[in-house]
This record gives sequence, C-alpha cells and structure tokens, in this order.
Amino acid sequence: MDIAKIFQNNQDWVHRKLDLEPEYFSNLAKGQTPDILYIGCSDSRVSAEELMGVAPGEAFILRNIANMVPNTDLSVMSVINYAVVHLKVKHIVVCGHYYCGGVQAAMKSGDLGILNPWLRNIRDVYRTHKEELSAIENEEARYKRLVELNVEEQCINVIKTAEVQKAQRDRGLTVHGWVFDVHSGQLIDLKIDFKKLLENIMEIYRLDLSEPEKQAAK
Ligand code: CO
Repeated sequence: MDIAKIFQNNQDWVHRKLDLEPEYFSNLAKGQTPDILYIGCSDSRVSAEELMGVAPGEAFILRNIANMVPNTDLSVMSVINYAVVHLKVKHIVVCGHYYCGGVQAAMKSGDLGILNPWLRNIRDVYRTHKEELSAIENEEARYKRLVELNVEEQCINVIKTAEVQKAQRDRGLTVHGWVFDVHSGQLIDLKIDFKKLLENIMEIYRLDLSEPEKQAAK
C-alpha cells in the first residue's frame, strides 16, 4: 500500500461525498450521536464500518487485539464510560471473528513478550471453559468455540462496569455478542442469553448503584 495513494484516495472520497451532498462535512462537524458502541478486533480483515454498513457518525468504535475488555485497561474502560455516560449509546457490541490470530496465539504456549499479559486474558477464558473446550476433538472447531466463548466473556466484562449496569437499569442499554466469519463475510449473532447469564453472575458482580452516602449507611 502506497502512502501517497492513501491521500489520493482521501481526496477522491471528499469529492465524491461533496458531489452527493455539499453539506456532508459541515453536517459531520456538528457532532456525533452514535447509537452503537462496537468493540472489535484490530485484524485488518475485520473492518467494523464496512461489515456493518454504517456511515461516519453512526458507530463509536474501539478495536484491539482479540476484542478484549480487560477491566483494568484504561483505554477500553474510558471508551465504555464515554460511550455510555456521554454519548448515551443504546447498544454495546463485542464482535469477535473466526480465525483470530490473537485467540490462536493464546491457544499456544509461545512466549510473546509484551503480548503475554494481554493474551493471558484469553487463556483465562480457556481455563474458565476448559471442560467444554477440551471435549472438542477437532482443533479448528475448538478454536472457533474459543472465539465465541471469548466474545461471551468480554460481554460479561462489559456488564461488570457500574455505568453499564446503571444504563441497563435506567434506559435499557443492551449488550450483544457477535462473531464475524472471515470465510463467508457473514456476521453471526451469538444470541447470548444475557438475562440468564446475568442471573448467574450478578450475585457476584452487581454493584450498589445508590448514592455513596446511602451505601455508607447500609
Ligand atoms: Co482477531
């Protein structure tokens, strides 16, 4: 990919947009009101906007290796906070993808330096679901299932945050787990039963959302 070509592409894009709608960029500059926060993988084949068919302004997006939501990661936590509290998104999507290099690396024992602590989060998902995964003999099927379970666990990490619990209670914010199949281009809704999932985990993760003074009085 030639860098000069990128600037040429940009110029062509600006002209195409303005030909269709002279006010396009001045309208974009007025601000953003996206309905959806998308958390996906950095993988170059999984282009968030293109696979969802959304235009600039329609989705708030975070991508990292293997679409992870570690609850100590300042970047992810800041994005969730801003999207939920300030942009007031209606949906949060965690979108994984089959043939994810990050997930594959976590299934192997190689020492990958700075990637180790990041991939350890995926190894934790494997350990949590070891029984189910170990029972899958076909390696590709096991790898694909880990991609799905990782999405589910990252959705749970999203739900562990206070601002998401508050927005679910107050305005019906919903969380979705999806997988993009690189082989077919299809987007798959894992149809995670969050109600059931929440019943199991909220005993542990439910946060007291009342005011701090009231919490102190308890
Ligand atoms: Co990936």
